[in-house]
Amino acid sequence: MHKEMALAAIAAGKHVHCEKPLSPSLKDSEEMMKAAEAKGVVTQVGFNYIKNPLLKLARDMAASGELGDITGFRGVHAEDYMHDPESPYTWRIDPVGGPGVIADLGSHIIGMARFLIGPIAEVSADVRTVVKSRPVSKGAKERKDVQVDDVARILINFASGCGGTIEANWIATGRKMQLGFELTGSKGSLVFTQEALNELHFYKAGADPRTSGYTKIEAGPQHPPYGGFCVAAGHQLGFNDLKTIEMAEFIGAIGGGPKAGPDFREAWEIQKVVDSAIKSSASRSWVKIG
Ligand SMILES: NC(=O)c1ccc[n+]([C@@H]2O[C@H](COP(=O)([O-])OP(=O)(O)OC[C@H]3O[C@@H](n4cnc5c(N)ncnc54)[C@H](O)[C@@H]3O)[C@@H](O)[C@H]2O)c1
Repeated sequence: MHKEMALAAIAAGKHVHCEKPLSPSLKDSEEMMKAAEAKGVVTQVGFNYIKNPLLKLARDMAASGELGDITGFRGVHAEDYMHDPESPYTWRIDPVGGPGVIADLGSHIIGMARFLIGPIAEVSADVRTVVKSRPVSKGAKERKDVQVDDVARILINFASGCGGTIEANWIATGRKMQLGFELTGSKGSLVFTQEALNELHFYKAGADPRTSGYTKIEAGPQHPPYGGFCVAAGHQLGFNDLKTIEMAEFIGAIGGGPKAGPDFREAWEIQKVVDSAIKSSASRSWVKIG
């Protein structure tokens, strides 16, 4: 439904916020991106987790050289809403709605990797369906074969030369929102998980070994726009606050403010990584991302 609604809105000259992933196929994403750019409307796609002020801090620390040379990225987005083989068929399982977890959750962690480090140049992936059939509806005896993937494990090489891994998994029994990463650099490392979204853990290399270790950076008004929600640290932002930040940036961009993003072009770039990982898994080989 994203494509039909977005194209109609763009044709009417409207700015468009669309949920992620932008579309089930790369071809549709490209069509949406081109239509939006031709019309000159502002677009934004719902990769809300990178609106966390601590993610912006992480990106700034990586970009400024504070972490030294970036040497590795280990990213994961794991949840368990599909772990039960009796969970019925929904649009998420219908291949018409997309390729599976690699697009549903993988798009978030791929987007986060690109946000933190930059473009991904090539991938080698294992994308697999673990639950082979599901009931056609809740409690039904009749079952339908599953054609979309449940787990995607991807080796990635960034254009910068840094290597890494990404896992997308919706059958990770027990995991509710493990969207996170470990980013290592020659001078320091960062660790983040959405399960504790007000914390960024920072290890600074070269400190006194007796007292060195990961430091917990707590979100506070020193990390804009946290201060727009609360004047004191420790009170914490939540998921819906990230959605509010996202919308404020979108509306600001419409009003002539800074570019909001991730826009349709960035969502198309993310979709390219998804598409390449599926191709890599099918061909059992590395695939370069054009
Ligand atoms: N950004 C995020 O963190 C995040 C989180 C969850 C879902 N999403 C995205 O949001 C979108 C929706 O996911 P969801 O989990 O809310 O799905 P959902 O299945 O819970 O909800 C979809 C809703 O759309 C309605 N619907 C379906 N077809 C319709 C039609 N033709 N006309 C009008 N309504 C129709 C359904 O009745 C249902 O209420 C997806 O793109 C998903 O990837 C984003």
